[in-house]
Amino acid sequence: MEIREVPFIAMGGLYEQDDLDAAARVIAAAAAPQGSFFPLPEENDFQNALAGHEGARKAIAVNSCGTALDCCAMALGIGPGDEVITTPLTFVCTAGTAVARGARVVFADINPTTLCLDPARVREKITARTKAILPVHFAGLACDVDAFDRITAETGIPVVYDAAHAIGARHGDRPVGGRGKASCYSFQSNKNITCLGEGGAVTTDDEEFAERVRQLKTFGYVYGGPAVRVASVGFNYRMTKPQYAVGLTQLAKVDRITRDRQERMLRLNDLLADVPEVILPVGHGPGHGSHLHVIRLDTDRVRFSTPEFTAHLKNRYQVGTAKHYPAVWTWEAFQEIGYSGEGCPIAAKVCEQVVSTPVFPRTSEEDLRYVAWAIKETIRDLGR
Ligand SMILES: Cc1ncc(COP(=O)(O)O)c(C=O)c1O
Repeated sequence: MEIREVPFIAMGGLYEQDDLDAAARVIAAAAAPQGSFFPLPEENDFQNALAGHEGARKAIAVNSCGTALDCCAMALGIGPGDEVITTPLTFVCTAGTAVARGARVVFADINPTTLCLDPARVREKITARTKAILPVHFAGLACDVDAFDRITAETGIPVVYDAAHAIGARHGDRPVGGRGKASCYSFQSNKNITCLGEGGAVTTDDEEFAERVRQLKTFGYVYGGPAVRVASVGFNYRMTKPQYAVGLTQLAKVDRITRDRQERMLRLNDLLADVPEVILPVGHGPGHGSHLHVIRLDTDRVRFSTPEFTAHLKNRYQVGTAKHYPAVWTWEAFQEIGYSGEGCPIAAKVCEQVVSTPVFPRTSEEDLRYVAWAIKETIRDLGR
């Protein structure tokens, strides 16, 4: 095949005419002589639409998934002396939330097939200090929420899901947003939908918890009495009016965007089905959030490393990839405070194998064929 460039993050077309119109409408209204960014009906509309889509009673929109996780940490009272169990195969902020609140993170190992946190390994790490469990719906695949429900039922320990990759994901025939104590979503610009570059939300079935999060995203304010009260110390984690407005138009098309991703990820799986050196991701298709397509180089079968593989793909074939993720304990900030991969041999190995391929909602059939071809050629070139 002729060499062509397929960069990682080649999304383009993030916004369509309805998104542009929605943003322009609220900005134009604020530009009028008596206009302002208040009131904010778009906030409630977005929250109600998101709760409906994700199968939760309540959704509280905030300005990132990181701040959504932090609101949950504050609402659960996570602090010094507490332990929070999470997966090492995640973006740094899942674990960072607990560390930033003064708690100790305890890494439990992942399931080698789904790459999600393994509930059986979590059970081994529970102590009297365990304050919460933070699983991640990795790449958009729902984790074993029933098993985590059983852990909560037996121990009382709340589970907060990092659902940054998982809008639209289902467990069985149910969306995941109402499961556990809460779920935290991201609408940052490379996620399946975005609120003008940044955004997030907490969804929950627990109305009291929702009210705590709602307070914490606005300085701890409690409305409803004769005067506003400050019930706890919170921050300003709100989005702006144009972000809520665009969140609504994006949400209206999230199912189409997710389908486009699912189809392409399944297609790349088909194109790579005859490559024994590559371990393919499971679960893509209906019910998968299909945020990332993460293949693994089977390092037991080849004599080159994953960095050599991705460097050759890029330098020789101009195919960009990304790594989701290095194990959290390998980041210098975590090394400095004594974290290691002890007790997580599966994650340690998987983190050395993962390669995210460049598949996005508009990736063409030609690019998918080219990427599959380039992967096969790279394995051949390096295996010589
Ligand atoms: C698993 C996971 N959690 C949390 C985040 C943080 O999201 P945000 O950038 O909205 O804070 C990300 C972002 O990429 C993520 O992938």
